[in-house]
Amino acid sequence: MKVIGIAGSLRPDSNTLRYLQTALEALAGQGLSTELISLRGKQINPCLGCYKCQEQPSCAQQEDDFAEILEKMKDAQGIILGSPVYLSSVVPQMMALLARATFVAHWNGKFLKDKVGGPITVARRAGHNLAFSQLLLWFFINGITVPGSSYWTVGTAGAGGARDADRDQEGMLHVTNFAHNMAGVMKKLFA
Ligand SMILES: Cc1cc2nc3c(=O)[nH]c(=O)nc-3n(C[C@H](O)[C@H](O)[C@H](O)COP(=O)(O)O)c2cc1C
Repeated sequence: MKVIGIAGSLRPDSNTLRYLQTALEALAGQGLSTELISLRGKQINPCLGCYKCQEQPSCAQQEDDFAEILEKMKDAQGIILGSPVYLSSVVPQMMALLARATFVAHWNGKFLKDKVGGPITVARRAGHNLAFSQLLLWFFINGITVPGSSYWTVGTAGAGGARDADRDQEGMLHVTNFAHNMAGVMKKLFA
């Protein structure tokens, strides 16, 4: 059983990455295999809306890093998405990935369905709920089961580097609880 975490921040010392690391470490502690994927340094172009994925099992755009990440999403049984909150929304590079992944999957056997996953959003102050909802809607439309936690899995951290995330003990607790619930659901579904 494999879980991947995809971190949407392009910053080198990213809080989002830190929250995802915490979730994946908790899952690894439950015996699951994990991989952390950062979108930093990756090129993910927006969906062109060409609908060529209706006729072929891949995106028509092959000149960026999308296909490699989609393959990892396809192979994993669990997917955690982490995004910083920019202007109350998920960051554009994450939405570009999610739009293209949804369309390729949708027209090709809906291959993302029956997985387990969930969102983590990270903001300095406000806007978590909208961004968190954007990610929840993505899991829902793709038929992915989202286990709950003890609170929404949102982190409060600014531009102070991952030290900010480390100070957010409550956020880390809810992320860890989510990861434990995710491991429990995955073991029931896939073991
Ligand atoms: C362009 C931009 C927009 C932002 N918009 C918001 C926002 O709407 N609400 C908020 O609380 N923080 C906002 N922030 C702060 C980030 O969400 C925060 O610093 C977060 O920790 C970044 O995550 P990272 O360290 O993983 O990059 C914004 C930051 C940037 C650069």
